[in-house]
Amino acid sequence: MNILVTGGAGYIGTHTCVALLQAGHQVVVLDNFSNSHPEALARVEQICQQRIPVYQGDVGDADLLEQIFTAHAFDGVIHFAGAKAVGESVEKPLYYYRNNVTASQTLFEAMQRFGVNTIVFSSSATVYGDPHAVPILEDFPTGPTNPYGRSKLMVEEIMQDHARADQTFNGIILRYFNPVGAHESGLIGEDPNGIPNNLMPFIAQVAVGKRAQLAVFGDDYPTKDGTGVRDYIHVCDLAEGHVKAIERLHGQAGCHVFNLGTGSGVSVLEMVAAYADASQRPVPYAIAPRRAGDVAQCYADASKAQQLLGWQAKRDLRDMVADSWHWQSGNPDGYRSSSDSE
Ligand code: WQD
Repeated sequence: MNILVTGGAGYIGTHTCVALLQAGHQVVVLDNFSNSHPEALARVEQICQQRIPVYQGDVGDADLLEQIFTAHAFDGVIHFAGAKAVGESVEKPLYYYRNNVTASQTLFEAMQRFGVNTIVFSSSATVYGDPHAVPILEDFPTGPTNPYGRSKLMVEEIMQDHARADQTFNGIILRYFNPVGAHESGLIGEDPNGIPNNLMPFIAQVAVGKRAQLAVFGDDYPTKDGTGVRDYIHVCDLAEGHVKAIERLHGQAGCHVFNLGTGSGVSVLEMVAAYADASQRPVPYAIAPRRAGDVAQCYADASKAQQLLGWQAKRDLRDMVADSWHWQSGNPDGYRSSSDSE
């Protein structure tokens, strides 16, 4: 299949492009490089030994979408492009709603004009908010607690309404838990701008010596060791989940929702210990106050994806931290070479 990948230069986007190309599909990437780097796509081409058509621009640019959909006959779209920092979304809600919601609607309208019916949407477990129980099932009540999570849920609801009105529309909603790790080549990986918000990239930067120590946001949660528990999933398992989803559900009508997680929870301190072991580097940390908005536990019941997509996560915590360290130690400044960062 020929797939348009929006946000294809990003962390999950690049790993999914690799999985799509290695499964024999073709990709075209649209990315504005606001939170990604063209070098990442050069690395994807290096891994797959294939050239990738790339358009630089915004998903919300209707004229650009007209140009792209005229130039390429797509079988489907995988839509990653969007802003994803919880804290930033609280400070800039209007930006998040324009960038994540309005832009997605522009994309859906372009797809409808060109008769492209299948889209895989990058959603997030953050739509569940503070779950009443774990593991979390897809039919649990949603309750996002920040503009980022609300923007993801709004797009999901637009897709549900669109599928009810347009019987040809096929929307596949994938709710990610906590993506971590990197491709085994060490050529692509997570490259956050500035100070990492998320746990794994922060630990990686402590291990490689870019950060002095990790602040553990609270050790008084009702969990196995008092620290936050999450469902960390290897980014390559996540990428393969996208390929399975578009292959299995392409051409079907309706809206389908899947949790993509491992089904098991790992605490902050367990992650610290695993990373120190994989990197053979110290990962110093200090206990800090809880972070506003954090929940104690969040992990998936991913059995629906296993049953209906024939997908389940294969890589374990050791793979996640080893692959993360391989990327981080080989690319301490991410995709920015030393000349870029001068
Ligand atoms: C994980 C655990 C923290 C950093 C967020 C988004 C979610 C998704 C994934 C986009 C928590 C603790 C973290 C640190 C710490 N993103 N922590 N020190 O908050 O579960 O999910 O990222 O889709 O939508 O909400 O991930 O990695 O930020 O935190 O102690 O410096 O690590 O308290 O328990 P989170 P996270």
